[in-house]
Amino acid sequence: MNYKKIVCQKVYKVFQDRIDSVAISDVSMTVGDGELVALTGPNGSGKTTLLKLIMGIYKPTSGRVIVNNKIVSEMSEDELSKYRIKTVGMIFQDFGLIDFLTVRQNLELPLIIAGVADGEKKKKVEEIADRLEIMHLLSSSVKTLSGGEKQRVSIGVGLMNDPEIILADEPTANLDRQGREDVLNLLLDLNKKGKTILLVTHEEPLINYATRIYRFDKGYLKE
Ligand SMILES: Nc1ncnc2c1ncn2[C@@H]1O[C@H](COP(=O)(O)OP(=O)(O)OP(=O)(O)O)[C@@H](O)[C@H]1O
Ligand SMILES: [Mg+2]
Repeated sequence: MNYKKIVCQKVYKVFQDRIDSVAISDVSMTVGDGELVALTGPNGSGKTTLLKLIMGIYKPTSGRVIVNNKIVSEMSEDELSKYRIKTVGMIFQDFGLIDFLTVRQNLELPLIIAGVADGEKKKKVEEIADRLEIMHLLSSSVKTLSGGEKQRVSIGVGLMNDPEIILADEPTANLDRQGREDVLNLLLDLNKKGKTILLVTHEEPLINYATRIYRFDKGYLKE
């Protein structure tokens, strides 16, 4: 199947709050339906910025990001919120968790936004928590967790609504060897079930499983 799930066309992103910081320059790339694509490159080269453009958190300064044949930056607020519930899920590099809530409450948030009923909510939270081996942490406040534990919770939040596309920003950066293996297997399993995955990583074992690799350098892309 050659259907293009994600298409970036000549995307530029300039942050004007700093002295014209160009995060991304002329980036054109595609991710096909069901692909596992790796994105790599040095610190500050624009990897996270690209994921946030696909998520619709940022708007491109010029160029277009098209997902499922729709231009992300032209979606209405309503469409964008549906898009973030059903279509894309992001695992954030800085976790994106709410510190003063418990692990359970953080995991429930995407389900509440999606309007999932209480009974179903409990079932889904526990399924994911079991898979990520964080059942024993469900009633702990996020601010008491270790970095690796937070990483697992943030993966749970990103996967909670079972999105078609998973944007994973260095999801194993804070994990030990066993944790990295667990997350690798989880992502491969999801990919086998048909999920499209765009994965930012520096880890060779993960990169080796990718169908294609894009390398960023100072905001420019080389395949
Ligand atoms: N909101 C922002 N405002 C201003 N500049 C930003 C913003 N976000 C990112 N940048 C800048 O854009 C460039 C690319 O940042 P980005 O976070 O995309 O890099 P990265 O490749 O993910 O790096 P890392 O490997 O450290 O995570 C950096 O120079 C960064 O300082
Ligand atoms: Mg980053």
